[in-house]
Amino acid sequence: MNQAQWSVFVEAEGKVHVIELISGVRKIKGLGVLDALETLSKINYGEEVLVGQKVLTRVPLRLPEMSKGMLRRAQTISAKDAGFITSRMGIGPNDRILEAGIGSGGLSMYLARILGNSGIHVTVEPRSEHADVALENMRRAKESWSEFPNHHHIEGAVEEVVEQIRDFSEEFDGIILDLPEHPSAINAVSPLLSVGGRLVCYCPVTSQLEAAWIACEQAGLEIEWAGELIERQWGKASKGGVRPVNGPFGHTAFLLLAYRRS
Ligand SMILES: C[S@@+](CC[C@H](N)C(=O)[O-])C[C@H]1O[C@@H](n2cnc3c(N)ncnc32)[C@H](O)[C@@H]1O
Repeated sequence: MNQAQWSVFVEAEGKVHVIELISGVRKIKGLGVLDALETLSKINYGEEVLVGQKVLTRVPLRLPEMSKGMLRRAQTISAKDAGFITSRMGIGPNDRILEAGIGSGGLSMYLARILGNSGIHVTVEPRSEHADVALENMRRAKESWSEFPNHHHIEGAVEEVVEQIRDFSEEFDGIILDLPEHPSAINAVSPLLSVGGRLVCYCPVTSQLEAAWIACEQAGLEIEWAGELIERQWGKASKGGVRPVNGPFGHTAFLLLAYRRS
């Protein structure tokens, strides 16, 4: 059983602070210098505390808070796309999932949450400065949640570490590729996809989607779905009623979902 070493405090406007409750005075980004253990550990869920000028409320460290308060370096996959990816791939306990690159670990936390103790999660990343951030986010998740998959991280480009990947599992139920060049990665890892397994490519621009589509078909996979998810948030209007909020209609990426039938 994990100890509740990590905690979340939210500001009234919604800004989330994920804080390690360890003793000793230290600088905490956005909050100033304090002894987190002494100042914050006795605050109950739902209670407020004044830190500097900020009124913070302690809440449980669930996935949305972990994600909002995560460390960031590479661009992360958001809840909108992560929800679609994990549900259309059908990911759950006992699954073996390969993910490249790990980036900031944004998607990895969604995967860890649903894989639970019985899943195998292999991540690959060539840039150690990205992996450092991602692995710190994964450490927080592991130390905070009661279940966490059997996670293995490999340093390198995914095309070059296939034998190391095989050391952890000969086959995968799902493969997710969020990297700039999909075709070479698809060629390298599609033989690891089990029959009935699905491979997803996350493609910020259309040329990547097209190249990934062709590479998946050449690798003997069927394209099950390709497209983009559009999210439109609503809010309360000042004179009453609810309506779509003003603001940019953002693009994240095109998604390609490929299936191994045989
Ligand atoms: C946009 S980031 C991934 C973000 C991640 N999905 C998240 O939610 O935090 C893309 C990552 O792919 C990595 N990358 C680039 N080429 C790669 C390759 N051949 N194999 C594995 N990872 C690669 C990059 O270094 C970068 O960290």
